[in-house]
Amino acid sequence: MELTVAVTGASGTIYAHRTLLHMAASGAVERINLIMSGTAPVVARVEMGVKIEEGDAAAVNEWVGLPRDSKLIRFHRLSNLAATPASGSHPQAGMAVVPCSMGTLGAIASGAGTNLIHRAADVTLKEGRRLVIVPRETPYNAIHLENMLRLSRAGARIMPASPGFYHRPQSIEQLVDHLVFRLLDQFGIPHPTGSQWKGEGP
Ligand SMILES: Cc1cc2nc3c(=O)[nH]c(=O)nc-3n(C[C@H](O)[C@H](O)[C@H](O)COP(=O)(O)O)c2cc1C
Repeated sequence: MELTVAVTGASGTIYAHRTLLHMAASGAVERINLIMSGTAPVVARVEMGVKIEEGDAAAVNEWVGLPRDSKLIRFHRLSNLAATPASGSHPQAGMAVVPCSMGTLGAIASGAGTNLIHRAADVTLKEGRRLVIVPRETPYNAIHLENMLRLSRAGARIMPASPGFYHRPQSIEQLVDHLVFRLLDQFGIPHPTGSQWKGEGP
């Protein structure tokens, strides 16, 4: 399976980190097309203390526990509208925008995108492929909510960064993984068990 993961400048870099890490560990993903917005590395530095520069695949590999020379992740430039995710003729399972800022959400919802994240999301929708959006902001204003509704109606899955607590997380990673595993479910990507609800009562 090949898919695209876009990381934007919303809070919650750890959601992107755990998504990449679990996709890499799943054995089900052969290629991840990674795109980062201009603000994403700033938030990554603030929140996780990591220094990632555009195109630095070795740094991303190290960050997610892959060998530095691994080719699993292909790190595309944001301005490269000739990259593979920009074309519907390039076969892919879909795309996740995690975390998704309100700016990127609005650009995708308007259909008037200007960078590779916007274009790849647009292509994913027009091809009828799975587009998962993990928006993060609080509170949402009416524009944010209308943009989410618009995207949902266009076929996107809106999965706000709002993890559950019923698996009694003992760490931030376990808390974050609750959302990340639900995201992987959207693509049929296997993941460690433990957070699924097993049911209660007779
Ligand atoms: C530390 C930090 C945290 C931020 N958190 C959010 C957030 O949770 N949601 C959001 O929509 N924007 C947030 N922003 C603002 C976005 O980064 C900003 O709107 C940016 O223009 C988004 O552009 P992008 O979508 O191209 O990444 C944050 C910015 C910084 C520096």
